[in-house]
Amino acid sequence: MLRFDIITIFPEFFREAIDCGIVRRARNAGLVEIIAHDLRQWTTDKHHVVDDRPFGGGDGMVLKPEPIFAGVEALTGAARREDLPPNTRVVLLSAQGEVFAQALAKDLSQSDSRIVLLCGRYEGVDERVADALVTDEVSIGDYVLSGGEPAAMVIIDAVVRLLPGALGSETSAVNESFSEGLLDYPQYTRPPDFRGMRVPETLLSGNHAEIARWRKEAALEKTRRKRPDLLNR
Ligand code: ADE
Repeated sequence: MLRFDIITIFPEFFREAIDCGIVRRARNAGLVEIIAHDLRQWTTDKHHVVDDRPFGGGDGMVLKPEPIFAGVEALTGAARREDLPPNTRVVLLSAQGEVFAQALAKDLSQSDSRIVLLCGRYEGVDERVADALVTDEVSIGDYVLSGGEPAAMVIIDAVVRLLPGALGSETSAVNESFSEGLLDYPQYTRPPDFRGMRVPETLLSGNHAEIARWRKEAALEKTRRKRPDLLNR
């Protein structure tokens, strides 16, 4: 079974987020286990301090290395990247990481993986975490969040829905945006004429070969118009 362990100072952030929709169903079906751990449990001081001022000065606070290393060691048995058990990834969410995309979601969705998600906070995380502990540093886009928690939830959602059996039908994740490097084709439902806006005739024709051809062309056209960068990859 795929397992996510989230290390965060806001475990409550995930309580309802992992209890909705596809993610909830996948958990109930035993396809994935998701546990949010409070980073503060791995502090050793009376006040459970997880951050400190940066050496060299400057604004803001930096997450200390000790509780993070202790947490990863408690969860995986390893306190360095090279000692991690097979199929174990330690993912640091940060604005400096590789930009998350469908290919990484697919890679992470291999069953029996153990994925530790480290949520950064404040002005940063002590660099020794990225240097010695992390297997993947991941950003969800070129903007700055106040913490890695929303990013961790994005990754969980994108990965869980790829697990076999997570979606209603096995094919649901095959014919969708990015699965073929293209955006999805446009979808319509009833009514065929809504306020004068008509559904393309081909889709009403019942001719499946024609419909398949129309969809392929429409997906290409939409990609060309909205995301030409995808066609150049
Ligand atoms: N933490 C702060 N900004 C982030 C981003 N864009 N992606 C992931 N984690 C972050």
